[in-house]
Amino acid sequence: MDIRKRMDELINLINKYNEAYYQNNESLISDLAFDQLLHELHKLENENPLFALTDSPTQKVGGTITKQFKSVTHRFPMLSLGNTYNENDLKEFDALIKKTLGDEKYEYICELKFDGVALSFWYQNGKLIKGVTRGDGIRGDDITNNVKTIKSIPHSITDQIFPVEFELRGEGFMPNHIFEQINYERSLTGEQLLANPRNSASGTFKMQDSSIVAQRNLDCYIYAYLGFDNPFQTHEESLIKLFDLGFPISQTWEKCSDIESVLAYIEKWTTKRNDLPLNTDGIVIKINDYGQQERLGFTAKSPRWAISFKYPSEIAKTELLSISYQVGRTGNITPVANLNPVYLAGTMIKRASIHNANEMTRLDLHEGDMVFIEKGGEIIPKITGVDMSIRNPEKPIFTFPTNCPDCNSELLRVEGEANHYCMNDSFCPTQIKGKIEHFIQRKALNIENLGVETIDLLFDKSIIKDVGDLYKLTSFDFFGLDGFQSKSIQNIVNSIEKSKTVPFRKVLFGLGIRHVGATIAEKLVLEFKSINNLRDASYEELIAVPEIGDRIALSIIAFFSKPDNIDLINRLEQSNVQLSEDILELEQESTSLEGKSFVISGVFQNFDRDGLRDKIILNGGKVVSSISSKLDYLIAGDNMGPSKLEKANQLAIKIITEEEFLNLL
Ligand code: IVH
Repeated sequence: MDIRKRMDELINLINKYNEAYYQNNESLISDLAFDQLLHELHKLENENPLFALTDSPTQKVGGTITKQFKSVTHRFPMLSLGNTYNENDLKEFDALIKKTLGDEKYEYICELKFDGVALSFWYQNGKLIKGVTRGDGIRGDDITNNVKTIKSIPHSITDQIFPVEFELRGEGFMPNHIFEQINYERSLTGEQLLANPRNSASGTFKMQDSSIVAQRNLDCYIYAYLGFDNPFQTHEESLIKLFDLGFPISQTWEKCSDIESVLAYIEKWTTKRNDLPLNTDGIVIKINDYGQQERLGFTAKSPRWAISFKYPSEIAKTELLSISYQVGRTGNITPVANLNPVYLAGTMIKRASIHNANEMTRLDLHEGDMVFIEKGGEIIPKITGVDMSIRNPEKPIFTFPTNCPDCNSELLRVEGEANHYCMNDSFCPTQIKGKIEHFIQRKALNIENLGVETIDLLFDKSIIKDVGDLYKLTSFDFFGLDGFQSKSIQNIVNSIEKSKTVPFRKVLFGLGIRHVGATIAEKLVLEFKSINNLRDASYEELIAVPEIGDRIALSIIAFFSKPDNIDLINRLEQSNVQLSEDILELEQESTSLEGKSFVISGVFQNFDRDGLRDKIILNGGKVVSSISSKLDYLIAGDNMGPSKLEKANQLAIKIITEEEFLNLL
């Protein structure tokens, strides 16, 4: 096809999809397919700069556009809370309440202050219709698809007590164990670590692809009911009822009849809060009775009927015994402080991360220093400073090593990067074992039954020296090794065999090319389709791929320039490991919907709209945006547009529910 014509066509399509998305909140295309179009246009523009238009959609927002969220005006502004830090502040707050309410009796509900992202959930006719971020308190982002990935939030309720429209407010969060898991996986790929669970939650809620959001298992605690025709007299009643209906209400709240019992609640949770699955940074005290809340009212920024109390961040002081240098899978060296064990925020701390050489310099750490450690939002404590008043001036400063603590080869620090690297990635034992562990993990080749200890053992006995050798393993290799029975050996061999069907994008991620995480691997496979094409890609071709910048492109080129890596790829190929994939073709699930066209309208229980669209395409169907006499099915979700319904009825189009659609498959 004429290049110029194709570029025009792409621009028209992208503009059309954008307009539908921004103006009508309609997604006519999946994120993946949208990215593909945009990428194709980007590539054609790079190759044919003379045809590139200045107002091309690729020129909006830093060269590439991403779909953005629609902005929504809150029906009730999302306010913040006044803060208190000590007993006196709280007593003052209580005195003010007493003064305003006069002789009336009042009660408080105390709750923990969850450290996440404020969310608003809009319900209409018992259905969850919107999930919105706080934004500036007046307007927030419509992140409904992402909010719907929170498994604990009911999408519909049938209880008659609720009015037609109401809102729930709560705190979305990433549970600490999920945060740790993600960072562990990132540390294996050398990807930048997420800073803390709160930032990770807020970043995840703002992701465009809700299928990735779903994998991150975000959660939420609801802490407020809002709406006209409030069916509850008190906040307590709302918490009990919502909990009964299956809403996630943290069972940490308590009713307190005076400020003394509030202080006891604070005391009780000072350390107990460390046992919770998420971070909390204080407590929130609320007047229980809604009538009294109304009489107390609001200031411009916050309610007068509630206040938060912030726990002081916990700091401990201890002796810095030594610094160890850990070698990561990609050869990155991380300094770790070994500390004289000290109790902090519920756990005994023996080690703290120092991240990199810059941080070591900033802290100016000397042997024998007494250091302050703090647990902020982060899970792993960090050294925040040195008690200079008791430093022994005789003691030398810690210096970053010049050689790898494991294989002794010289370390390299790339200009502009914070990390030092051991470049001996073919022979440094820790790196090689780390690479094998990375290769077998669930997100990569998913070789079950083969654990870290087995890998260590096979490596130490020189039975395997890289991931290519896994495919040469037979039952005989395990003879004479302690702790293996024929059943477990067979399981290992079987799961290695099974991994030969794992799609290329996971294999590419499994190869552990520095800076190539799971998402980047997918983008690369989408573009290059096979390891050979990727190997042959030039720097320019690599950086033309969305999200691939200089750093990743150079890392890919460096990987393929090493003869050892080429040899490994050849051996994997001989073992029939998947080294090519046409993402769209391979994901095809069935042809059961072949020749059928669908219009999607409304919201659904089991899918977000993109998910439903992908399901149709992957089963051979076609998704169209408007209803015409040629249309086969209209899939009707909740709150579908009345005009669509009317038109479908006029044209006698088959209208099916989500369940009926699933039956078609
Ligand atoms: S009630 C009018 N309860 O704290 C505000 N907020 O400064 C009513 N938060 O970002 C908020 N846990 O998301 C309330 N148990 C709790 C909370 C809580 C955390 C957050 C909230 C907001 C901030 C308020």
